[in-house]
Amino acid sequence: MTPSVNDEELARTTPLDQFDVSRPELYLREGLHPYFKRLRDEDPVHYCKQSAYGPYWSVTRFEDCVAIDTNHKVFSSDASVGSFVLDDATLNPVVENGLFLPNFLGMDPPRHDIHRKVVSPAVAPENLERIEPLIRQRSQKVLDSLSIGETFNWVERVSIELTTMMLATLLDFNFEERRNLTRWSDVVTASPGDGVIESWEQREKELRQCEATFQKMFAERKAAPPKSDLISMMAHSPEMADITPEEFLGTVVLLIVGGNDTTRNSMSGSAMAAHLYPAEFEKVRSNQALIPSAVSETIRWQTPIAHMRRTALCDYEFRGKQIRKGDKVVMWYLSANRDERVIANPMAFIADRKNPRHHMSFGFGIHRCVGNRLAEMQVRVLWEEFFKRFSKIEVVGEVTRIPSCLIHGYTSIPVRLSK
Ligand code: HEM
Repeated sequence: MTPSVNDEELARTTPLDQFDVSRPELYLREGLHPYFKRLRDEDPVHYCKQSAYGPYWSVTRFEDCVAIDTNHKVFSSDASVGSFVLDDATLNPVVENGLFLPNFLGMDPPRHDIHRKVVSPAVAPENLERIEPLIRQRSQKVLDSLSIGETFNWVERVSIELTTMMLATLLDFNFEERRNLTRWSDVVTASPGDGVIESWEQREKELRQCEATFQKMFAERKAAPPKSDLISMMAHSPEMADITPEEFLGTVVLLIVGGNDTTRNSMSGSAMAAHLYPAEFEKVRSNQALIPSAVSETIRWQTPIAHMRRTALCDYEFRGKQIRKGDKVVMWYLSANRDERVIANPMAFIADRKNPRHHMSFGFGIHRCVGNRLAEMQVRVLWEEFFKRFSKIEVVGEVTRIPSCLIHGYTSIPVRLSK
């Protein structure tokens, strides 16, 4: 979406020391790009003294985000020193009333590496090949339920449904109860009064149900011969011996949250790109060998996770700025993916872009998204199956976005399909 004239003007005239790119309203109206551009050009490592989340540094250029992401000895993800996102409360493993959900996105080596090894085989290419037919079948079912000429919300009917089905497939979760996965994913990042939960007690109660469900599944899978779902793989993994029941639950929750909003908003971003760039979409429809490239471009262009954060473990000078021990350092992937120094014509969606996987949407370094190939496969299958049934997608009503500086995505995209 084109930013409003107001944001262009405000981004040009507001003094840099008053910039706060974490404000949710910027994301609600997709007005943030002019602010990021000015930061990249004039103050690429910027200190915001005051925000709803306290003071923080913004790193906005591609190469600088890579530098922070790969320097985990100085810039920590460990939950005991800070969160891996700007808001300390989101996905904080220390839940009120004692439920503790540690996960490896919030760990530094060596603990991080042990946990990551437990889940990596499930999302490795061989396993993805095994689950692709089931993902395809389920995508076909969702697409077959859509009618030509009807107006419907793509986010609900396609993005959420397909992502939830995929998670259920990956975990071999009771298919009829799959919406519990979406619910738990929402609950884990919720706080009282936000429309998802009323109180911390309610949150704990629901997460205890999640815990009980997965502990039971774990015990059952451990007693049965190994299979290719994530829970069975974890149950039979030798590395699992090194992790506690709480860490197991934290890892499962990370997989549910990590694979949920992200893939959902890549699918939603696909519909938006198809509408806003019909010539590019037509290029892909008429030459479907371009689908994988268009998928990567969608994930770059959308950037479903707007930022990740680290906490400085010591005083450190970076690009001439003095970062202090304990400071929050935010890598704005959304800005890095629009950095003209690295990506040509970055605001545009270009289906056959050269080197389309060279983007920051999956992060960089030791925490680089473990599910990246799975996410690409799902979006690829969606488009392969889409083109067998439809040739055009149009947005026909008001699009609503998520007012969040973390999850960059949509709540509603009214669309109409044609043959
Ligand atoms: C980590 C994005 C899909 C599981 C991450 C990170 C990002 C990200 C930005 C953190 C990188 C960093 O800190 O350097 C995305 C996007 C996706 C996606 C944009 C979809 C387009 C998935 C899926 C899964 C998943 C489908 C589930 C299997 C994880 C896990 C981590 C992670 C477990 C933690 C990795 C670690 O700490 O070593 N993802 N993700 N993600 N993602 Fe994804």
